[in-house]
Amino acid sequence: MQIARTIADFKPMRPQWQSEGSGVALVPTMGALHEGHMSLIKRARGLAPRVVVSIFVNPTQFGPHEDFENYPRLLERDLEMLEEVGVDAAFIPEVAEMYPPGFKTFVTVEELGSRLCGVSRPTHFRGVTTVVLKLFNIIQPHIAVFGQKDAQQTVIIHRMVRDLGLDVDIVVCPIVREPDGLALSSRNRYLTSQERQAATILSRCLDLAEQTVKYGENRAAVLLDEIRRKMASEPRVRLDYAEIVDCEDLSPIETIEGPALLALAVFVGKTRLIDNTYLRRFSHT
Ligand code: PAF
Repeated sequence: MQIARTIADFKPMRPQWQSEGSGVALVPTMGALHEGHMSLIKRARGLAPRVVVSIFVNPTQFGPHEDFENYPRLLERDLEMLEEVGVDAAFIPEVAEMYPPGFKTFVTVEELGSRLCGVSRPTHFRGVTTVVLKLFNIIQPHIAVFGQKDAQQTVIIHRMVRDLGLDVDIVVCPIVREPDGLALSSRNRYLTSQERQAATILSRCLDLAEQTVKYGENRAAVLLDEIRRKMASEPRVRLDYAEIVDCEDLSPIETIEGPALLALAVFVGKTRLIDNTYLRRFSHT
């Protein structure tokens, strides 16, 4: 595995791979890798002969009072995991490499970035799209692989790719869960054992909604009321939002007809966690 710490380090790899006729898949990450990331990398390996994983804790997607400073940084362990799974290159820039002094350019996908997580994290998605576009420009992948757990992020990146005519196929992989349903996240490591137990309320609420839709309920307001009631039964958990939205423009919907995104965000103690599922109207025929 080659390791590129700067854009200049990475530059020679691209033309070499191109001359071999090799396609490149990129898996962008912020490190603290877990099985969820590994599933993205394994998928990427099936999609392209060359796989690049970036590890960069991106400061612009953190708000002023969020966990940028404390975000887990486990670079040595991460690189061992990448070596083991078989990645061609790791791109691990420093902040000054991605945001040199005087950096002033941001990419914003309007409206979509202000909904759901954008309400409590108003500059988050502008940071995500800016760094992802910059990574696309540096790595020039044919394919980029993201996880469904960040559903809003994937919708916004799809829109950026479409709106700017970027030549990258976006592939989204399913959420990887612990046996008790908790979605894997680098932030799960912040949880105490009691909080860890309480955090399963997220997937329990998603299951409840899926079952309720199966029994014929398709009114979003009724489903969301049930979710809020269930959340309220878990004293360690504070709901940030529960919404059922259109899969493409993320606007709230009243009745589930086609697939709809049920997105949840909660605070468990000080840790903010998200989860989601697609709800589909159940056909009894
Ligand atoms: O999903 C993440 O880990 C980050 O938002 C990403 C896409 C690597 C951009 O920093």
